[in-house]
Amino acid sequence: MLEKHFIDALKKARQIVFFTGSGISAESGIPTFRGEEGLWNKFKPEELANFNAFIKNPALVTEWYNFRREIVRKALPNPGHLSIYEFEKFYDVTVVTQNVDNLHRRAGSSKVLELHGNIERNFCISCGKDAVEMHEKDKSGVFRCECGGLLRPGVVWFGENLPTAIFDAAEVAISKSDIVFVAGTSLQVYPAASLVHFAKGFNCYIVEINTETTPGSYLADQKFEGKSGVHIPAILELVKELKG
Ligand code: OAD
Repeated sequence: MLEKHFIDALKKARQIVFFTGSGISAESGIPTFRGEEGLWNKFKPEELANFNAFIKNPALVTEWYNFRREIVRKALPNPGHLSIYEFEKFYDVTVVTQNVDNLHRRAGSSKVLELHGNIERNFCISCGKDAVEMHEKDKSGVFRCECGGLLRPGVVWFGENLPTAIFDAAEVAISKSDIVFVAGTSLQVYPAASLVHFAKGFNCYIVEINTETTPGSYLADQKFEGKSGVHIPAILELVKELKG
C-alpha cells in the first residue's frame, strides 16, 4: 500500500540515494549471490573470492572472474537501472552499489559509488598498477603485469577492507539525503549493510524494494515487494506526476 508519507517524502525530497545490490541486475540476467539460483549456492566463496584462494590457485580464480566478466559484458541495463538514471531529472541522485557489474554507469547514472569495486578493473598485486585490459595469459593460465606481478580483479574479496574513500563518500551522501531507496540487496554483508542503519540514524526516509523480506525490512518506511525493474519505473512515473 502506498503510504501518504511516501508521497510527501517524494514531493519534498531534493537529495536521494539508491543503495543497490545484485537483485537490481537480476533482470539483466546476472545471477545474484544468495537464494536458490544464487552464485554462492553453486560455488564456494572461500575457494574463489578471497586473496588466499587467489594465491593458491590464481588460474582458477582468474577463470571464474573471466566467466563472470563475459556475463556482465553481454548484459544490458534493465528498466530498474535506466529509471534510476532518469531520477536525476528530479533529484540530486547518488547511487551507492555493492555491484561490480558497471550497469549503473552504463545506464547513465552520473554519481556511482562502488563499494565492492568493479569487475572490469584489474590491478597488479606487486606494483599496484591498474590494468583495464588483460595482457596474454602465461603458461599457468594467469595474467601478469608488465612488472611480472600477478594481476587480480579490482573487486573486494572476503576478508578485505572496503575502499575507505568510497565508503566515506557513501556515508556523506546518505547523511545529506532525504530518501534512501534500498533495492535488490539481502543486507547480509557488512559493512555495506550497515549503511541502512546509518541512514536511519540520519532520519532519512527509507524505501525498500525487494522480492523478499530482508533483515533490514523493519527499518523501511515504505516497502515494495517485487522486482526492482517493475517498481522503480512505477515510482518514477509517480515522481513525474508529482514534480513534472
Ligand atoms: P544477494 O544475492 O545477497 O541478495 C540479492 C537480493 O536481491 C535478495 O534479497 C533478493 O530477494 C533480491 N532480488 C532478487 N531479484 C530481485 C529483483 N528482480 N528485484 C528486486 N530484488 C531482487 O546480493 P547482495 O545483497 O548484493 O560481495 O550481496 C551483497 C554482497 O555479497 C555482494 O556484493 C557480494 C556478495 O558476496 C562481494 O563480492 C564482496
